This record gives sequence, C-alpha cells and structure tokens, in this order.
Amino acid sequence: MALNSSSSLPSILSIFVLLLLVGGSAALGGRAGGWQPIKDVKAPEVQEIAKYAVAEHNSRAKTDLRYESVVRGETQVVAGTNYRLVIAARDGGVGKQYEAVVWVKPWQHFRNLTSFNLVQRA
Ligand SMILES: *[C@@H]1O[C@H](CO)[C@@H](O)[C@H](O)[C@H]1NC(C)=O
Repeated sequence: MALNSSSSLPSILSIFVLLLLVGGSAALGGRAGGWQPIKDVKAPEVQEIAKYAVAEHNSRAKTDLRYESVVRGETQVVAGTNYRLVIAARDGGVGKQYEAVVWVKPWQHFRNLTSFNLVQRA
C-alpha cells in the first residue's frame, strides 16, 4: 500500500474544512449583524408590529399616540427578528415620527418593544 501518497490527503481535507468554516462563519456573521430594508412596509405583519409598538409605548409611558403609518423599516435576524420601524403617529393632533424596535420570536408567540424614541428632525 502507498502510505506516503495517502498521507497528504488528510491535510488537504483539513484545509478545505478550515476554508469552509472561515467562509461559513463570515457569511453567518454578516447575516446576523446586518439590517435589511423592509421592501413592503404596508405588509400586514409590519403594520401589526407597528401598531403593537405604539400601543405598548402608550401603555408604558401613559401617552396617547395615535398610529398613522410606517414610514420605513429594517429587520435583523437575531434568534428571531428585530424590526426597526420609523412610525408616523399623532401626539395630541401633532404629526410626529418615532423609531421603534420590536423583537419578535414567532414560534414562541413572543414579541417585545425594545425601544421607542422620537425621531428628531432638523
Ligand atoms: C421588554 O423590553 C424591555 C425594554 O428593553 C425590558 O425592560 C423588558 O424586560 C422586556 N420584557 C421581556 C418580557 O423580555
């Protein structure tokens, strides 16, 4: 048996495995950290999350904001999905914009408003 020629096979394989691991983790890392724009902010699930964000903020902050629309938004994959939405709402008749972050884990029927802040416009 040619032991000498077969001895190089494991090292070639290990280089391939290493390249796959490095490439794979870089691709995963890019997806996990990245925010992707939401193409259709009128989609029912986006509207639903935005309305939840306003209702939850009203309940926590004892405000009475009236939801109007989602201006734009992004999602991020993190053991579920983070939605970062710019929401138009009326605060006592005055139109304002807020940035809300909602974390959703659909398979657990879990969602939570992580942050809700007024967008400062110049
Ligand atoms: C929801 O998010 C708020 C703000 O980050 C946090 O204080 C609260 O503990 C969270 N609730 C749950 C159930 O994770």
